[in-house]
Amino acid sequence: MEQVPMSATGGTLGDLTKHQLRNLCRVVSIDESEPVRLLGRVLGSADSRPLSRPPLWQSDIADDATPVEFSVQINDTGERHLRILAETLPEHPSPAANLGAARDLVSSLSERYGLPLDRLRAIEDLFTPDEPQGHFSWWFSFIFDAAGRPKFKVYLNPAIRGPERSDEICAEAFRRLGLEEAFHTVGAHALQRAQDELTFFALDLDHGPQSRVKLYISQHDATTDDVIRAAGAVPGISPGQVGDFCRLLAPGTARFSGRPLVSSYSLVESDRDKPSNYSIYLPLRDYVPDDSVSRERVRRHLREYEIDPAMLDEVIGSLTERELSANAGLLAHISLRLSPDQTGTTVYASSEAYGGTPVQR
Ligand code: TRP
Repeated sequence: MEQVPMSATGGTLGDLTKHQLRNLCRVVSIDESEPVRLLGRVLGSADSRPLSRPPLWQSDIADDATPVEFSVQINDTGERHLRILAETLPEHPSPAANLGAARDLVSSLSERYGLPLDRLRAIEDLFTPDEPQGHFSWWFSFIFDAAGRPKFKVYLNPAIRGPERSDEICAEAFRRLGLEEAFHTVGAHALQRAQDELTFFALDLDHGPQSRVKLYISQHDATTDDVIRAAGAVPGISPGQVGDFCRLLAPGTARFSGRPLVSSYSLVESDRDKPSNYSIYLPLRDYVPDDSVSRERVRRHLREYEIDPAMLDEVIGSLTERELSANAGLLAHISLRLSPDQTGTTVYASSEAYGGTPVQR
């Protein structure tokens, strides 16, 4: 039977995305109450907005302006983590108002969960100009462990003072965090081309020495050799795996000239001169005819890493009943995380609350 879309039933963005989230909580076997509450909180003024009305803001979280994206991370140990990436929206969005709402959210989360804000406080002035520029100010992710307990990450925009200042802002943030050398290492491997763009600077809002700083670089027009070189910044991993990953998910693609491959690096307190972990993100939606092909390729990748591919269909089924061949973009990105002792795959899946990725002709 055709499912009646929520937009036709007077549903809100909150109704749809919470329904999807409840399904995903079942897939990863965690209690839904905390995730659903947090989703409502982060949606802010977008929560109660009827889907029959246009998006409150052209959020860049997803291609159709939905301000949330779901992901499921699977480690080679079999652990699964559910995550929500989101932009919080105030009643009257604007770059400055969105930044204000994001800062308020940080304060209220830190009060409720006792989050340490010392590292954020040490660098936030760099990322909070009076007149923010770029696609976003601050984004959030909520990561739920096997017990359903959340961890929090905040993403800051290096281009918030204009793209020409991204490099200088990130260098200063790394310097303040005592990771100056590591920033140079990353730059030498992934910021050598004119098309390499610093896109996110992220912090775990966690206690302890394992709390991470993450830097994301969009490598426009890259070849697999470019991202293999980027992976070379991390000791003890095999960069060749990154090439295999790209070839399996986007066979025959010599140059990724659609949405870019993204490289990210994680650094913990002890990573003074080199990052300890590398991830590649492949925007699968631009390198497939549609999601039925994405599904096949991701299944192949999961089998390669000895992960049961049945999980993928459960994730898809949590979000939609549409024909997979009708469009691309439900499976937005796939990422592979490499560290010396662990490998993980993450599947980023769209809510498609506002129709999904626009069809390109
Ligand atoms: N939608 C944006 C993009 O595709 C931001 C984004 C959302 C993103 N999820 C992501 C970027 C995962 C990289 C990886 O660029």
